[in-house]
Amino acid sequence: MTDLCRRVVLTGAGGRIGSAIMPLLPACWDVQRTDLEADQGIGALDVTDRDACPAAFTGADAVVHLAAVPDPAASWERLLPANVVGTTTSPGPQGTAVSAVWCWPVVCTPSLLDPITPRSGPVTRRAPANLYGATKAWAEALGWWVAATTSTSVVALRIGYFAAQRPSAETVPAREMSAWLSPRDAAELVRAAVVAEGLHFEVANGISANRHRFADL
Ligand SMILES: NC(=O)c1ccc[n+]([C@@H]2O[C@H](COP(=O)([O-])OP(=O)(O)OC[C@H]3O[C@@H](n4cnc5c(N)ncnc54)[C@H](O)[C@@H]3O)[C@@H](O)[C@H]2O)c1
Repeated sequence: MTDLCRRVVLTGAGGRIGSAIMPLLPACWDVQRTDLEADQGIGALDVTDRDACPAAFTGADAVVHLAAVPDPAASWERLLPANVVGTTTSPGPQGTAVSAVWCWPVVCTPSLLDPITPRSGPVTRRAPANLYGATKAWAEALGWWVAATTSTSVVALRIGYFAAQRPSAETVPAREMSAWLSPRDAAELVRAAVVAEGLHFEVANGISANRHRFADL
């Protein structure tokens, strides 16, 4: 195994991003693809299963956690299992969402120069856009805590608008166009997050170098 080869478990591998990045990941990676239901080359793993997940992740260098309900209009009942419970079982690079952007971490780093105020907290500067975004904000909070209290490092990837092809103004609003993340850049983002050395907790925006950018690079 060279220093770039990794054993990786991919959750939500049957979804849009998982299936698109799979052929673009380094050829030497040993990727175990998992999703709710088994399919060709994909093993069944429900990320809410607190017994199956530790067993599935044992021996992996990284878990690329893409399993989620990515619907901005989803109800709490739909979001709770995969986005909240499932994230507690899946440490590793996380697919979060730009709708979760907010200041970080205020409450965990009090100091005399920057004392905690009633406005301190995860939604002070950029509030989650919806309940889905709130579950992603929570996932980042969890990731920070996991990275601070265990030997697992966490990279939260704030994915913008993933699409196989560059979107056009005829099909999507300008906001989505400026947040486009291409399959190639999504795979590169995951690769970089997995092989990065010396990280504890990091947040990275997941958008391509679009002419007008919704988030910085
Ligand atoms: N597609 C985008 O534009 C976009 C934007 C921002 C963030 N994201 C995030 O990126 C990640 C992947 O998104 P996607 O577009 O591939 O979503 P997707 O819906 O296409 O795929 C998600 C996969 O997760 C699986 N899944 C759901 N619940 C599960 C469970 N309990 N156990 C195991 N698997 C489960 C689904 O079966 C599905 O295959 C998600 O975290 C999503 O919130 C995506």
